[in-house]
Amino acid sequence: MTDPFDIVIFGGAGDLALRKLIPALYRAFREGKLPLGSRIVACCLETEDVKNYIQTITLTLEEHLGDDEFCSDAMKQFKTFLLPIELNAAEKDDGWQVLHELLTAELDKVTVFYLAIPPTIFGSCCQLMSEANLISANSRVVVEKPLGYDAVSANEINDKIAEYFDEDSIYRIDHYLGKETVQNLMALRFTNLIFEQLWDAKSIDHVQISISETVGLEGRAGFYNEAGALRDMVQNHLIQLLCLVAMESPHKVNANSIRTEKLKVLEALRPMKGQDVEKHTVRGQYVAGSYNNKLVPGYIEELNSPDSSTETFVALRVFIDNWRWARVPFYLRTGKRMKERCAEIVIQFKDVSHRVYDESAGPLAPNRLIIRLQPEELIQLTLMSKDLETLGMQLQPATLNLNFSDTYTQFRSDAYKRLMLDAAKGNSSLFIHRDEVDLAWAWVDPIIEAWQQSNGEPHLYRAGTWGPDESNELLEDDGRYWFNTGEGVETHQS
Ligand code: BG6
Repeated sequence: MTDPFDIVIFGGAGDLALRKLIPALYRAFREGKLPLGSRIVACCLETEDVKNYIQTITLTLEEHLGDDEFCSDAMKQFKTFLLPIELNAAEKDDGWQVLHELLTAELDKVTVFYLAIPPTIFGSCCQLMSEANLISANSRVVVEKPLGYDAVSANEINDKIAEYFDEDSIYRIDHYLGKETVQNLMALRFTNLIFEQLWDAKSIDHVQISISETVGLEGRAGFYNEAGALRDMVQNHLIQLLCLVAMESPHKVNANSIRTEKLKVLEALRPMKGQDVEKHTVRGQYVAGSYNNKLVPGYIEELNSPDSSTETFVALRVFIDNWRWARVPFYLRTGKRMKERCAEIVIQFKDVSHRVYDESAGPLAPNRLIIRLQPEELIQLTLMSKDLETLGMQLQPATLNLNFSDTYTQFRSDAYKRLMLDAAKGNSSLFIHRDEVDLAWAWVDPIIEAWQQSNGEPHLYRAGTWGPDESNELLEDDGRYWFNTGEGVETHQS
């Protein structure tokens, strides 16, 4: 357990704080991971929010956690950690003096400043922290995405924060990195000889990384319509997952070694410009459809606007130009209002080089490793084996299944919990370095430019499906197809 720390949440009554941060801190408390003497200072803009804070939090936790996790007795204790104050994160007001008094009363403590506010005010908030003498050697600042809109704006934001905090004290969050299975991916790769030996272009046919969501705009129309799926999900989450799949083994599992290896992957991403973009990317936008037998509106209706060419779906064929991954396609895909909520990485191995069984033994399926991050956390490996119920030699795919919910029945994965506790401990290995942000934008920006120059429109797909037909064609052109969760393991003649 760490020493007691203070976490100051700017945007304490905002959506992120209520839906993710406070529930994560409550979970940490229930698991005995929030040290006694720690304080959660929630900075709220409105007097009413401060007055009703405890009540709002109680209701939010009840709603988000469900009966098995929420407990009113525990809530009574958790309340004692919460200190709501009125403060404007973008302008000087009396709140800053209150915050100063609170924090300077316990000078030796680590303070984590969490900027759960729009990035446009990151700079002014850091400046006000500095003017209120809140920043010390024990301070860390956690910043949420979106970190900019493109390379230029990201740079401006990073420059602003860097005026007040050293790079070592800046914790850029990508909550996907806090998901337990993502760390398991590193454990799987770097502690098991069988995988590391086969982890390259000689043995791997291709890699798929998919994050499909069933939700739509969720009240974030303004932000999302400006951003779109490429900026919202690919520039950060998908590229980070790609880095972890593709990177070389770090020298040690520490922030510097991991970042060094991730940067090499980012540098080796083959740039896409002009015509390449048309060839290797598919944009989509959902129209009305159904999910769980209920009708759901299209993007334009949800947005309540006459038109928009923002992509709510994107699929890409990506190459990493280095020795290990030469000519191995990485297919990335993400979208809103898709058929299932799922995030998974699929490593498709190559076919065996020579078939020893007759055709009568049945078709062969290549080995496939599936690392699923959600909805459940599991690792599966499909292998060919003999069908034991037939006397003759009949081959069929079988699955080795490592479903973590079977083993860890009490465990509740919560990416924000882990990342906030890591920030308090000063462990930045799961956070993103400025150089990674720069390189990711440098790769994404030309794709957006090419889309804008082409004046093309996204392909339409019905809500509740796996995206537009063109996404399937992207893989079919290569003789491959998407592995859609729940659709079983196929075999083919080899
Ligand atoms: C966020 C995106 O970063 O990730 C959202 O801004 C998206 O649009 C969310 O819904 C998905 O996160 P998760 O953990 O629910 O898959």
